[in-house]
Amino acid sequence: MSETWTPTSWRTRVAEQQPDWPDRAELDAVAKAIGGYPPLVFAGETRSLGEDLGRVARGEAFLLQAGDCAESFDAFSADAIRDKLKVILQMAVVLMYSSSVPVVKVGRIAGQFSKPRSSPTETIDGESLPSFRGHLVNDIAFSPDARRPDAQRLLTAYQQSAATLNLLRAFTKGGFADLARVHAWNQEFVTSSAEGRRYEQVADEIDRALRFMGAAGIVPERHPALHEVDFYTSHEALVLEYEEALTRQDSISGGWYDCSAHMLWIGERTRDPDGAHVEFLSGVGNPIGCKIGPSATADEVVALCARLDPGKTPGRLTLISRMGKDKVASALPPLLRAVRDAGHPVVWACDPMHGNTFTAPNGLKTRDFDDVLAEVAGFFRANAEVGTWPGGVHVELTGDDVTECLGGAEQIAHEDLGTRYETMCDPRLNARQSLDLAFRVAELLRG
Ligand code: PEP
Ligand code: CO
Repeated sequence: MSETWTPTSWRTRVAEQQPDWPDRAELDAVAKAIGGYPPLVFAGETRSLGEDLGRVARGEAFLLQAGDCAESFDAFSADAIRDKLKVILQMAVVLMYSSSVPVVKVGRIAGQFSKPRSSPTETIDGESLPSFRGHLVNDIAFSPDARRPDAQRLLTAYQQSAATLNLLRAFTKGGFADLARVHAWNQEFVTSSAEGRRYEQVADEIDRALRFMGAAGIVPERHPALHEVDFYTSHEALVLEYEEALTRQDSISGGWYDCSAHMLWIGERTRDPDGAHVEFLSGVGNPIGCKIGPSATADEVVALCARLDPGKTPGRLTLISRMGKDKVASALPPLLRAVRDAGHPVVWACDPMHGNTFTAPNGLKTRDFDDVLAEVAGFFRANAEVGTWPGGVHVELTGDDVTECLGGAEQIAHEDLGTRYETMCDPRLNARQSLDLAFRVAELLRG
């Protein structure tokens, strides 16, 4: 951390992608209230995640970061949280079982409420309104009222994050994530599919292994790792008033932590090394991420590493490559080399979603499952070429049976996209596509 950093030092820098708040005084009052609320996570938990990511940086583990593009205030229910957790646990089991590599699980959940946009306004039939920026800021309906940034939404975001995190903690520490329940994570509509059946085989083998361990005298009760999982939360740190309000000084270490989530990341549009977002996250002790798109130069990425990981700490910084399937082969290797040569022990993860988005003829934003696979494969090839560890994947998914991304085993076609297109922002993999992806990534990891 630099000597000039404070939780408010970002305010002297340019912050891109900020809402045009109509009432600054109201925003300040809301932020002040949140500043008095309990933290959502503890500093010690973020340090545990940092240690886990350190193992990823050393090539001893793999990061699975996954969840919604944008969480919704409307689609907020125990079932939705449970089903998202189920598919992430399934993916982790597939990855671990097939590759024997430990998997660090981080959700895009319990705080992923604000979105950068390519344009500040949206125009329909000649009427221009502020773009939808996520439920932390405004609503998606196309009316002046809905699109007006509303600071009260920060309070709802805090409350929904707290409730979501509470349920996640109960699920992951209270029996739901027990390996003995590995079959129960398979949802009905998945079980009948090819990916679902493949998963059932893995689950059968895990059952057998657990029975064998029991017969050999290993008492499962004495091994918490069989009954619980560490599941961490993350979101893009975009609206800095909210993040600042939840930034607290740790009584044990004296360091500052952004207690809105375990891990925070900087988006592709806000990663200016001199900008407000980089300044803010440079000073918090949480593990942090930064998206890296195809326009990033080696010098820029090394400058970001110097700002965000001056101590060269394994696991402190995760660089999330989102190049697009056609650019990954040429754009990524020079960056992998430059960061390695600069001595930063970062985690390299692959976001195969954001560089492969296009608008289908019917006007819906989509991604093709084959493009997603192609970018992941290109990411593994680039790391193999340079001799770096392909540390993880970062994906947008849902536990539901939606039709937002094309392809996959069920061959979702352009004309199917409208059947169940529910995302508020980017198209997500459905549960079957997500499981399929996990099997493919496991094969790449084994190779
Ligand atoms: C996102 O992760 O939802 C996102 C907006 O990504 P990026 O910053 O990489 O475009
Ligand atoms: Co997105």
